[in-house]
Amino acid sequence: MDVVLTGDRPTGRLHLGHYVGSLKRRVEMQNSGNYKNMYVMIADAQALTDNAGNINKVRDNISEVALDYLACGLDPEKVTIFIQSQIPELCELSFYYMNLVTVSRLQRNPTVKNEIQLRGFKQSIPVGFFTYPISQAADITAFKANLVPVGEDQLPMIEQTREIVRSFNSTYKEVLVEPEAILPENSMCSRLPGLDGAAKMSKSLGNCIYLSDSSNDIKKKVQSMFTDPTHLRVEDPGHTENNPVFIYLDAFCKDEHFAAFLPAYQNLQELKDHYQRGGLGDGTVKKFLNEILQSELKPIRERREVLAQDLGYIFKMLKHGSQKAEEVAAQTLQEVKTAMGINYFNGNELNK
Ligand code: TRP
Repeated sequence: MDVVLTGDRPTGRLHLGHYVGSLKRRVEMQNSGNYKNMYVMIADAQALTDNAGNINKVRDNISEVALDYLACGLDPEKVTIFIQSQIPELCELSFYYMNLVTVSRLQRNPTVKNEIQLRGFKQSIPVGFFTYPISQAADITAFKANLVPVGEDQLPMIEQTREIVRSFNSTYKEVLVEPEAILPENSMCSRLPGLDGAAKMSKSLGNCIYLSDSSNDIKKKVQSMFTDPTHLRVEDPGHTENNPVFIYLDAFCKDEHFAAFLPAYQNLQELKDHYQRGGLGDGTVKKFLNEILQSELKPIRERREVLAQDLGYIFKMLKHGSQKAEEVAAQTLQEVKTAMGINYFNGNELNK
């Protein structure tokens, strides 16, 4: 039976990119009941690798992310939701895994490379940031997770974890489990572009729709979306590829949305054909997208508002989840140290 683990950095509220890239899938997996254990981690320690001076931002966003989780339908009775920094075993595992990874291998990790550029670190890369793929391998292997539902940008992390597992198991003993990434079925969901057409929806780029956005914010944001710059007049033929409005429709639109909100068309292909021919204005398409997003996000926002009234419950839930998670990680750490032959005080003498 599968063991599933994922996580998010608490640097802000969760947005549509998180939702289609991974959150929705987690809730489906949870509801299928088809797993042995499922863990969802709030990766505050990873968030600190490039936010050392921003403790309050990270701390405040832990409850925000937990609220987003529960609002989307994650159920703490079925999944263990926990806080990364409260599991010290993860640091110990990382420390030993560091000996199995070379500096050049980390330098080649495409996600790390890209993030270093985005953050403008140049020659001043925090060591903790540079090595976070190793700590992420600890997150995954501590729970012996074999499935990790993530967006496309996390594939290099999973690959790096697999290499660490193989290296550990062949150097010491078969203790760790090689994980597999699970990407969204709909490839449009793997990397949702930003409202401005940037490659990724990301808080630091300010191009997000948040799960907690008000109905009015969503409407304004959809209206401001980047579309096809060559589609100047309604009559002009338009492009649907690389057009964020159509990419969002690819990710969210179902045939029944046409019956409900835009009955002049039967399905997305008809709408795309019309746009490509010319004669269909961006305003109509955006209005349709707005209706779809409003209907998807309204129940989430409403549940979130109710949950936010009882932060005491969120605190207890996270504390309990973290205690449960630590028991599992501690067990794996014992196996790791035994495999390495460094569990000295399990016996009576140091020298075998
Ligand atoms: N790196 C992930 C992100 O930025 C967060 C994360 C930390 C994670 N540890 C993980 C995801 C383990 C999956 C598994 O979103």
